[in-house]
Amino acid sequence: MIFAIVNQKGGVGKTTTAVNLAHGLALKLNGNGRAPAAGPTDAGQAPAQPRTPGRVLLLDMDPQGNCAAALGIDPGGRCISDLLAGRATPRDVVIPDTPRERGGTGRPGLFLIPATERLVDVTEELLIRDFQSYRRGKTEGGGMDDILVERLGPLRDAFAWIVIDCPPSLGSLTTAVYRFADRAVVPVRTAMLDAAGAAQHTALINDLQRDGLPISVSLILPTFFEPRQVLARQVYQDLVEKYGRSRVAIPIVQSVVVQQAQAAGGQTLFEYEPAADSPATAAYARLVERVSVQ
Ligand SMILES: Nc1ncnc2c1ncn2[C@@H]1O[C@H](COP(=O)(O)OP(=O)(O)OP(=O)(O)O)[C@@H](O)[C@H]1O
Ligand SMILES: [Mg+2]
Repeated sequence: MIFAIVNQKGGVGKTTTAVNLAHGLALKLNGNGRAPAAGPTDAGQAPAQPRTPGRVLLLDMDPQGNCAAALGIDPGGRCISDLLAGRATPRDVVIPDTPRERGGTGRPGLFLIPATERLVDVTEELLIRDFQSYRRGKTEGGGMDDILVERLGPLRDAFAWIVIDCPPSLGSLTTAVYRFADRAVVPVRTAMLDAAGAAQHTALINDLQRDGLPISVSLILPTFFEPRQVLARQVYQDLVEKYGRSRVAIPIVQSVVVQQAQAAGGQTLFEYEPAADSPATAAYARLVERVSVQ
C-alpha cells in the first residue's frame, strides 16, 4: 500500500507526518515499543537486531530533502533523482535499515530514499525529454507522469508500506506521485484559510480519480491543532462535516516537542524520550493504527 502525504501548501506538517508515520509503521511491523536509541554512542555495544520481517520505505519526493534530516541521517549523496534519471539502481539509492554505524537508518524495518535539490534539475531534464519525444510525434507512455510507476514499480512488492513525502506544489513531481500512490493523506493546518485550500486539493484529487488515476483521499489530518482555540475547534468541526468523521483523523496538537525531537539530532516522536507522553505522539500513534488497517 502506497501512501502519499500531500498538500500544495507549505509548512502544514507533511514531512513530520511522513517521517513519524513511516517510523510508526516500521515499529508496528517489527514489534512495538519505543525504538532502540540509535547513534554513535551505542556503536559496538548495541545488541544485534533481529532480522526484520516487515519493511517500510520512506520516499522523499521533495527537493528540499527534509526527510533525511528529520531522521538525523546523512544521505551521503544518494538522491531519488538518480533512480528517476536511470543513472542508478534502487540498491544505489536506498538507505537500508541497518544500524547507523553501518550506514543505515538505525531503525529496524525503516528504509529511506532521500532527495536532494538535484531532483529539480532531473525533473527539468525529464520534462525536456518528454517534450522532444512529443515533437518527434512519439506519444506512447513512459514519460514524466509515469516515471515512478516505471522506476519504482519493481520495489512495490518489497515493502509492506511505502510512505511518500511530497513537495508543497502541484507540479509534475506531484502528478507522478498521484499516478503511483494508492492513497493520499492530506495534512491540514487548523486555520481557516488552510482548510479552504485543502478543499481545493481534495477536489483536485477527486477529479484525477474520475480521470482514471488510482489515487483516492483516505484521510484528512488536522495539524497544529490548539484545542483551546475556538477557531481551531470550529475548523475541525467544519472538516468533519465536509468529509465525514470516518475521513478525518484525530488532530495532531501543536506541540513544541515536535520541533524539539527533530532538533535533537533528528529523532521521531516514537524515540524521543521527552515526547513519550505527549498528545502529539499519541495522535501519531493513532494515525499509524488507522493507516495500517487500510
Ligand atoms: N504538531 C506540530 N507542532 C509543532 N510544530 C510542528 C508540528 N508539526 C510540524 N511542526 C513544525 O513545523 C514545521 C513545518 O513542518 P513540516 O516540515 O512537517 O511541514 P511541511 O508541510 O513538510 O513543509 P514543506 O511544505 O516546506 O515541506 C517544522 O519545523 C516542524 O517541526
Ligand atoms: Mg516537507
